[in-house]
Amino acid sequence: MAFLSALAALVALLPPAFAAPALETRTSISALSTSQIEAFKPFTHYASTAYCQPSTTLTWSCGANCQANPSFEPIASGGDGSDTQFWYVGYDPALATVIVAHQGTDTSEILADLTDADIVRGKLDSTLFPGVSSSVTVHEGFRDEQAKTATTILAAVNTAISKFGAKQVTTVGHSLGAAISLLDAVYLPLHLSGVSFKSVLYGLPRVGNGDFADYVDAHVSSVTHINNKEDPVPILPGMFLGFHHPSGEVHITDSSVWESCPGQDNDSDLCIVGDVPNVFDSTESDHDGPYDGVTMGC
Ligand SMILES: *[C@@H]1O[C@H](CO)[C@@H](O)[C@H](O)[C@H]1NC(C)=O
Repeated sequence: MAFLSALAALVALLPPAFAAPALETRTSISALSTSQIEAFKPFTHYASTAYCQPSTTLTWSCGANCQANPSFEPIASGGDGSDTQFWYVGYDPALATVIVAHQGTDTSEILADLTDADIVRGKLDSTLFPGVSSSVTVHEGFRDEQAKTATTILAAVNTAISKFGAKQVTTVGHSLGAAISLLDAVYLPLHLSGVSFKSVLYGLPRVGNGDFADYVDAHVSSVTHINNKEDPVPILPGMFLGFHHPSGEVHITDSSVWESCPGQDNDSDLCIVGDVPNVFDSTESDHDGPYDGVTMGC
C-alpha cells in the first residue's frame, strides 16, 4: 500500500499522456524473425542462471538453466544474494564470448527502489570510470551495487580472456542485474583492449540521465534491452525525473511479437513507453517473463 500511495504522488507529477504515434511510426517498427528471437535464448538462460547460488554456478551444476548452456566454462562466481547480488563469469565456446552475469531482485524490491521519492543520481567514480564526463549521472543505488564487484569482475574477465583467447565479452542480467550489467558494459571497456563488448539485458530499469544514454549509444557497440509486455520496471524512474534509456529496446507485445524499437525511449505504442504510459497500466508479474518461454529465476 505504501508503494501505491508513493505511486499516486508520482503520477500527479506525470506529464500528459503521450500523443498517439503517427501511423508511419507504428509501421516502421520492425518485428524480429523466429531465428532472431531464438538467438537470444542462450543469453536469457544466462541471465536467469544469475539467480542461482554461486556454489552451483562455479561448478555449473545449477540444474535446467545451466544445462541449457552445456558447454559453459565457469571462471569465478560470488555474491551473497543480499548485500551483494550473485554474479558469475565464464566462457561460452559455442558463442565464443566471455559471459558476465549479475542477479536481479524481487519485483517489489526493485519497484520500491525505483519509486523512492529520494531517488538521487550521481557521477560515476573517476577511478572505475576514468575519462567519463561528469555530466554523465546515474542512479546512485545502481552505481554503488556495480562498484561492489567491479574489480573482482574485471579480474575474472581478464582470466577468461587469457585462458580462452576470447575476443568478445557479453554482459547479461535481469532487473537490478540488468542495471549492474549495463554499468559493467560501460566500465569494462575502459580497462580492457582488443575485445568487443555486447550487452543483453532483460527488464532493464532506467539507469542514468540523457548524457549516460548517449554515452552508452556511442561507446557500447551492441546493447539490447528486452522488455516484456506491461512490465513497470523499464518505464521507471520516469523520464520526467531526467532518466533515459539507451537505444536497443526490444519489446515483447501482448501477442508475443518481439518488436525492435529504434532510438531511445521510442514512444510508439509497439514499444514500452507508448504501450505502458504509467505504472497503473502495468502488470508487475510481466517483469519476470516469460521471455520466449524462460521465466527469470533459478
Ligand atoms: C521510433 O521508431 C520510429 C520507426 O523507426 C522512428 O521513426 C522514430 O524516430 C523513433 N522514435 C524515437 C523517439 O526514437
